[in-house]
Amino acid sequence: MGRVVYRVRQFFRALTAPLYGDYPQDIARVLTPAQRELFFRMAPIDRLHTRAVYRDLVDRGPQPQALLVAALLHDVGKVATPSGILMRVIKVLLERFSPRWLDRLSQGESRGWRRSFVVYGQHAEIGARWAEEAGCSPLTVSLIRRHEDPVQEATTEEDQLLILLQEADENW
Ligand SMILES: [Fe+2]
Ligand SMILES: [Fe+2]
Repeated sequence: MGRVVYRVRQFFRALTAPLYGDYPQDIARVLTPAQRELFFRMAPIDRLHTRAVYRDLVDRGPQPQALLVAALLHDVGKVATPSGILMRVIKVLLERFSPRWLDRLSQGESRGWRRSFVVYGQHAEIGARWAEEAGCSPLTVSLIRRHEDPVQEATTEEDQLLILLQEADENW
């Protein structure tokens, strides 16, 4: 029960996060102009989420540039999801409370009302491709591509960075 309350609070915190702005100085320091353009393509709520993930990582100590760029851009593929606010709320709630159901909705044919879920299921891959086009390093691109994939065992430095990114992503 405590976890549910925590998740609901986390969700509403994300919704009210626009009050805190984008902190352009952070973004200018970490992102190139092409990457910044990508960042500002995201909906305000996603910008706030990715910026909170970035801050979470910075607060833990010095981090590699590739990880910080990935933190700011990891959810950019969600831009491709055609959905209104209601759909977004449904998706965020499913992501938090029933990720398996969201997974099931995200597979299959991209038609009708399911299209939004299917594209959502591909947001990591879509975001990775856009990040590559925006000149992100191979490590950043790979972190974005894998950010929703569970890591069984960290065998490489990339896996370790991915775990860090996922931990911060979970917090926000
Ligand atoms: Fe994501
Ligand atoms: Fe995220």
